[in-house]
Amino acid sequence: MREKIDIFGKECWEYFKGNEVNEIIERKDGFIHISPGPKLYFSDYKNWSKREKKAMKFVKGRVIDIGCGVGRHSVYLQSRGFEIMGADNSPLAIKICKLRGLRKARVMDMEDISKLRLNSFDTVILLGNNFGLLESFDRAKNLLKQLHKITPSNGIIITESFNHYDMRGGFHTKYRKMNIGIGRMPGQWRIRIRFDKFIGPWYDYLIVSKNEMNDILKDTGWKVQKFIDSDSSSYIAIIKKIYTFENKNQKDILKNFAKGYKSMNKIKKAENPNSKK
Ligand SMILES: C[S@@+](CC[C@H](N)C(=O)[O-])C[C@H]1O[C@@H](n2cnc3c(N)ncnc32)[C@H](O)[C@@H]1O
Repeated sequence: MREKIDIFGKECWEYFKGNEVNEIIERKDGFIHISPGPKLYFSDYKNWSKREKKAMKFVKGRVIDIGCGVGRHSVYLQSRGFEIMGADNSPLAIKICKLRGLRKARVMDMEDISKLRLNSFDTVILLGNNFGLLESFDRAKNLLKQLHKITPSNGIIITESFNHYDMRGGFHTKYRKMNIGIGRMPGQWRIRIRFDKFIGPWYDYLIVSKNEMNDILKDTGWKVQKFIDSDSSSYIAIIKKIYTFENKNQKDILKNFAKGYKSMNKIKKAENPNSKK
C-alpha cells in the first residue's frame, strides 16, 4: 500500500517558510542524486533554462499544467494572460500555488485526466521532467490517448525529459539492463524523494531518449513537432496532434474533392481551349 506522506509538498512548504531544503532523489539500486529541488521549483522566469524560455513561445489557448508543483510555469503564464489550470497530486504544493496567486489550482492525480471535459485544453504542460509522470511504456500510451481526448485537433503537449544513455557509469548500464530484463523501459526509474529525516514512497518515473519518446507516441494520435535541445542531456518536446480516424476521413474527402475539381477543369479546358479559365 502507498504511504500517504506528501513529501514533495512538505519540502516545498519548508522552503516557502524560508528554511533551507536539500532534495535527494534515491533510485532503487542505491544511486543517489542531489537535485536543486525547491530552489528550481520556485525559480522565476529570468532564471529558467533557455529551452524552457523557448518552449513558452509555443503555449496557446487554454492551458493545463500537470504536476505543476508550486506553479513555476502556471503563475508565469497566468501573468502573461493565459487561462491556466495547475494540477498536482500534492495538496501542499497546490496550497502554495494558491498562496502565490494562481487562480485555478486543483489537487488532481495524473490518472484522473480522463475525468476532464473533452476538448477543454489547447496546451498540456508536462515540464520539469514531467514526461516522467507517464511512468511506463503502457501507461504512457494510455495517458497520451486520454490527453488526446481533452484537447482539440490543434492541441499540443509541451514536455521535458533527458537522454539517460548519457549517464555512463557501470551502475547506470547495469540498471538499464536490469530494467530491460524484467520488461521495463531502460529509463523507467523506481525512485523516492528524501529530505531531512523524511522519506517519500517509491514510485516509477519514466526517463526517455528522443527515440524512445517517438516510439511511445506511435499510435497515440500524437507526434513530435520539434525538439528543443540544450547543452546538457535535457530536451523539451513540442508534441502535436496527428489526425484521428474521424478527421483522416475528412481529409480523404477533401483530397478527393480537390482531385475531382482539377479533372473537371481539365475537361472544360479541353472542350473549350480558348477560354481563359
Ligand atoms: C519534478 S516536480 C516538477 C514541478 C513543476 N512542473 C516544475 O517544473 O517546477 C514533479 C511534480 O509532479 C507532481 N506529481 C508527481 N506524481 C504525480 C501524479 N501522479 N499526478 C500529479 N502530479 C504528480 C509532484 O507533486 C511535483 O509537484
